[in-house]
Amino acid sequence: MDKLLISGGGPLSGEIRISGAKNSALPILAATLLADGPVMVSNIPHLHDITTMFELLGCLGVTVTMNEKMQVDVDATTLNNHIAPYDLVKTMRASILVLGPMLAKYGVAKVSFPGGCAIGSRPVDLHLEGLKLMGASVEIDGGYINASVDGRLRGAHITMGIVSVGATENLMMAAALAEGQTIIENAAREPEVVDLAQCINTLGGRVSGAGTSTIVIDGVLSLHRGSYRVMPDRIETATYLAAAVATRGKIKLKDANPKTLGAVLKKLQEAGATITTGIDWIQLDMEKKRPKAVSFATAPYPGFPTDMQAQLTAVNAVAEGSAVIVETVFENRLVQINELNRMGAVISVDKNTASVTGVERLKAAPVMASDLRASASLVIAGLVADGDTVVDRIYHIDRGYECIEEKFQQLGAKIRRIPG
Ligand code: UD1
Repeated sequence: MDKLLISGGGPLSGEIRISGAKNSALPILAATLLADGPVMVSNIPHLHDITTMFELLGCLGVTVTMNEKMQVDVDATTLNNHIAPYDLVKTMRASILVLGPMLAKYGVAKVSFPGGCAIGSRPVDLHLEGLKLMGASVEIDGGYINASVDGRLRGAHITMGIVSVGATENLMMAAALAEGQTIIENAAREPEVVDLAQCINTLGGRVSGAGTSTIVIDGVLSLHRGSYRVMPDRIETATYLAAAVATRGKIKLKDANPKTLGAVLKKLQEAGATITTGIDWIQLDMEKKRPKAVSFATAPYPGFPTDMQAQLTAVNAVAEGSAVIVETVFENRLVQINELNRMGAVISVDKNTASVTGVERLKAAPVMASDLRASASLVIAGLVADGDTVVDRIYHIDRGYECIEEKFQQLGAKIRRIPG
């Protein structure tokens, strides 16, 4: 198993390019199942989760062709199988996103039931309830979700009990080909939901209201071929910004979208960063100052993203003062804190609340990544620690950060991969 070796050092400095968004590319690739012709998707990040989605599409019979610019041509007209198998779904929960489009287009889908994961139980009840309201019959048998519908799905009025990004996306894709109008209330407002809606509309769909809590989808008979460029990854962007804050650095990120990062930029400014932005770039300068501790609570968009909680906790670990962090989205997402404490951080956890007292410096230690964003927080900690930190189990990082060591090297960090 590969590891990352990080020698803690000075401030990050320099410029890098931000990749396409994993959490946007995954649903968009699933949405290509809805189209009657090939869909060219560009700005796809080179990541393990994306490869898993290609494998999943491939095993459904879909033809996936990639060129050297990471543009992917997906032709779902060759689909010849409706089963998303356990082996793939267990490695990536987002595999559930093929359920809605496959059911809407072919009237039948069999998708392995995703299990729990390191950050909580993460059920899919909202996905299934919504599809049932649209006329699908859904049964769980032998660890699989068997969904079918006679004819087309029907438009429905769906009110989500809690805000779910995945359920909003799955139901929006299903509704794109349903008969009549679907209204999703209490929908997720994440930028990735908006990106997916724009992609569906590019292919001839009729989705409005994405980005607000009420999405209205007028079902169409078919979607056509087209091309779509995936938005920049806001979590990757924010992770590098947080690393620059922790190391008291100055960096510029290109091909980023500051508009999707309001809550994060506000917190980083509160931590002492000077931030300047353009349409597609963000520059952050700590003027070599130690960051100030910042309290926050995670919440669905436009709130502070749960996917940035671990990284900002690592910043707080070396900040001046103390902070309280409340994780409201997932039940078990403060797991990285034990590892940070092994590096000398002073953080106590009570249920979903972490109390951090910043220390001047961390000390290098061997640490273990437990999930994608937790691993990013350990890299940030390693960058500011005295000595050489080894982060184990970095396959989690490769699920969500493209060329992480190259990008950090470009910013002057001493980081390298040790093949395992
Ligand atoms: C997506 C993101 C993930 C991010 C999360 C929250 C992708 C591929 N992943 O995950 O990076 O951390 O949004 O911003 O886009 N829930 C239910 N029932 C359901 C569905 C969800 O109870 O049927 C709960 C979950 O357990 C969780 C909360 O709703 O507590 C939010 O989860 P959700 O927004 O669905 O997360 P994902 O779409 O899985």
